[in-house]
Amino acid sequence: MSEPLVRFIDVRKSYDGKADAVRALNLEVANGEFLTLLGPSGSGKTTTLTMLAGFEQPTAGRIFVGADDITHVPVEKRGIGMVFQNYALFPNMTVGENIGFPLKVRRMAGAEIASKVTRALAMVRLEGLADRKPQQLSGGQQQRVAVARALVFEPRLVLLDEPLGALDRQLREQMQYELKHLHERLGVTMVYVTHDQVEAMTMSDRVAVFSAGQLRQVAAPRRLYEEPDSLFVARFLGESNILPGTVRERRDGQCGVVLNGGQTVVATAVGTSEKVNLAVRPEKIALGSAAAGCINHFPAKVVEVSFLGDQLRVRLEALGQEDFIVKFANAPGHAALEPGGAIEIGWRAEDCRALGE
Ligand SMILES: Nc1ncnc2c1ncn2[C@@H]1O[C@H](COP(=O)(O)OP(=O)(O)O)[C@@H](O)[C@H]1O
Ligand SMILES: [Mg+2]
Repeated sequence: MSEPLVRFIDVRKSYDGKADAVRALNLEVANGEFLTLLGPSGSGKTTTLTMLAGFEQPTAGRIFVGADDITHVPVEKRGIGMVFQNYALFPNMTVGENIGFPLKVRRMAGAEIASKVTRALAMVRLEGLADRKPQQLSGGQQQRVAVARALVFEPRLVLLDEPLGALDRQLREQMQYELKHLHERLGVTMVYVTHDQVEAMTMSDRVAVFSAGQLRQVAAPRRLYEEPDSLFVARFLGESNILPGTVRERRDGQCGVVLNGGQTVVATAVGTSEKVNLAVRPEKIALGSAAAGCINHFPAKVVEVSFLGDQLRVRLEALGQEDFIVKFANAPGHAALEPGGAIEIGWRAEDCRALGE
């Protein structure tokens, strides 16, 4: 990771002096990085972002931007660009006035404001709409104006809190790519909040997963998906089959786990717990003759086959579970699976993680 731009050091936030909305937060954001805070509703994402923005003060700990301790610096002195849900466009101002507002506040000359507004409009592909009022724009266009307003004063850090939440799926996906490309082109550091895991994976250099005010894991999307280090992350990001069991032996980063039903599974060891939950992704399961070559293989019975177009999703009865899920691509050459049919399933130790708690 290059030089950190943002550092949260032992940051805690309690609104009521009892519960912690954010606790023991240590997190760095690299210069130029696109970092996403991901987690369920109420997990502390917005609280983290508003402390960085300056709308809320930490109860304890410090926040640095570059070499500066900004923990108690007021919002307007932080020079951070923001796209927040509750930080909407000014309805009585035109698009151009909205975008130019941060420059006007900074007492920039009128001609310079005009030229920067024109450039910002082009950047978000809204040329020619400067004189419209926000309500004369579509939802997607309004979000682009908000993004232009956050970028127009060329901040080195931009914060975005669920900026695409109100848009329909197609527009949201389009805007995800636009924002990502803006980030790449401008080299600005972005901290982004979403509860949508696909959005987080699509856009981010790294994703920080929160649950109940706690940062659980921060890693690049692929790493997070392939190597979750807790049951929470394995479940929150994508789908996992979960098999509870007890570790019997450990060797070379792997462990032998006895499932509650008595079967033994060889897995990748994560942590030191005795009681573990094995997590196996549905797309890592081999079927039929391919399963026999895996270190872990078991008999199963087909319960339900769902055709998802590009994928097949199969629900199996296996290892004492009735909802063991297998997914595979709808590619030529797959044997037809019929409900009630017997089939062998298998997976590698590398694709199975033994997670504590
Ligand atoms: N202004 C506030 N006053 C009191 N409690 C708050 C306030 N904002 C958030 N909280 C509480 O703090 C916790 C974290 O909320 P928040 O940071 O908004 O989560 P997220 O953005 O992940 O949904 C929640 O329990 C929420 O109810
Ligand atoms: Mg929020």
